[in-house]
Amino acid sequence: MNRSATNEPVLVTGGAGFIGSNFVLQWVRAGGAAINLDLETYAGNPANLNELNGNPRHLLIRGDICDAMLVRSLLAQHQPCAVIHFAAESHVDRSIVSPGEFIRTNVQGTFTLLEEAKAYWQALGESRRDQFRFLHVSTDEVYGSLAPDDPAFTETTPYAPNSPYAASKAASDHLVRAYFHTYGLPALTTNCSNNYGPLQFPEKLIPLVILHALEGKPLPVYGDGANVRDWLFVGDHCSAIRTVLEHGRLGETYNIGGNSERKNIEVVRAICALLDELQPAASKHEELITFVKDRPGHDRRYAINAEKIRSELGWQPSVSFEQGLRQTVEWYLANQAWVENIRTGAYREWIQRNYEKREGK
Ligand code: NAD
Ligand code: DAU
Repeated sequence: MNRSATNEPVLVTGGAGFIGSNFVLQWVRAGGAAINLDLETYAGNPANLNELNGNPRHLLIRGDICDAMLVRSLLAQHQPCAVIHFAAESHVDRSIVSPGEFIRTNVQGTFTLLEEAKAYWQALGESRRDQFRFLHVSTDEVYGSLAPDDPAFTETTPYAPNSPYAASKAASDHLVRAYFHTYGLPALTTNCSNNYGPLQFPEKLIPLVILHALEGKPLPVYGDGANVRDWLFVGDHCSAIRTVLEHGRLGETYNIGGNSERKNIEVVRAICALLDELQPAASKHEELITFVKDRPGHDRRYAINAEKIRSELGWQPSVSFEQGLRQTVEWYLANQAWVENIRTGAYREWIQRNYEKREGK
């Protein structure tokens, strides 16, 4: 079944955030319909979806995934053929400062969605019940940290979450697994590496460095800058989710990655080099690089073995890190109004709170 070619909507949670809004835009452009439930926290931005204003194939509802009655009524009213679950508190540094919100949304919220999706799915007629899917979007951080020469994470790597964020996502993954095994809910889970691209809230490394560099502010690199992440362009993550939704085997998990491991310092230098070319300043942007106090419990390295999704479902990334980073820098340069809209008091408060305590490493 090609769910984006039918009139049956999908229920997307967190579709006003970074990856969720990229997914919804891609989905509706492809002809699909989406009901989008988003609490519009600091990370949720309805302006990400401006292109869909007035489009009858998209409905944005401001609400909480922990609100069982709301979720129940949306399922009953809109009769979706799938739930695609992005909604989460997603920033590791915030989870260190205030973990409670992460437990509430990522664990309690996922549990609420599973309970409501189960009841809805059980009451469907046979053919719609067979077609229904619950796709849970998760992270590679559940696997913990790798040493430099360790093999990349596979789907059977034991869980070893190290931050409150990663622990809350691991808990949600286990709940999804349990709902498949115990109740037969047709669930799928994806565990993806670091995303980057248009519409990312500038608390995360890549957009934060782009915006600080444009303002001539210090570029804060945690610790020695040698922590490694695998980077995937957001559009490729969205296409992988669509592939798993349509062709994934029920109850399975799929790792998604970009085959692009980079040290943080290499990422920051690459952004500086692009800005030197696209928006030259009086001095080289690299001169703004400042090593600051490390993140507590900072995972050293993540790496994804994405062989399962490649060999079983034929998905692989289409955008190289160099192409994707250039597109991303160009997007932030071309979308200054979006950036200004994001730089609210709450955003400035977070930047002050997170970075003032890191000064003078
Ligand atoms: P984000 O922080 O940009 O967006 C999260 C969205 O969820 C926001 O729109 C927010 O308003 C919404 N939300 C938060 N709490 C909610 C609640 N209680 N009810 C309804 N909506 C709520 O996050 P993102 O980077 O787009 O990540 C999306 C998902 O993908 C998350 O589940 C995250 O764990 C996962 N993921 C992210 C990455 C990454 O690199 N960003 C990588 C792998 C997996
Ligand atoms: O791996 C997938 C995960 O990637 C997702 O599950 C998370 O939702 C997403 O936020 C991301 O987590 P990270 O912690 O890896 O992303 P972040 O952009 O916060 O940091 C990337 C690396 O850069 C990390 O090693 C910490 C470092 N860093 C980050 C910031 C914000 C800095 O050196 N300086 C910074 O100012």
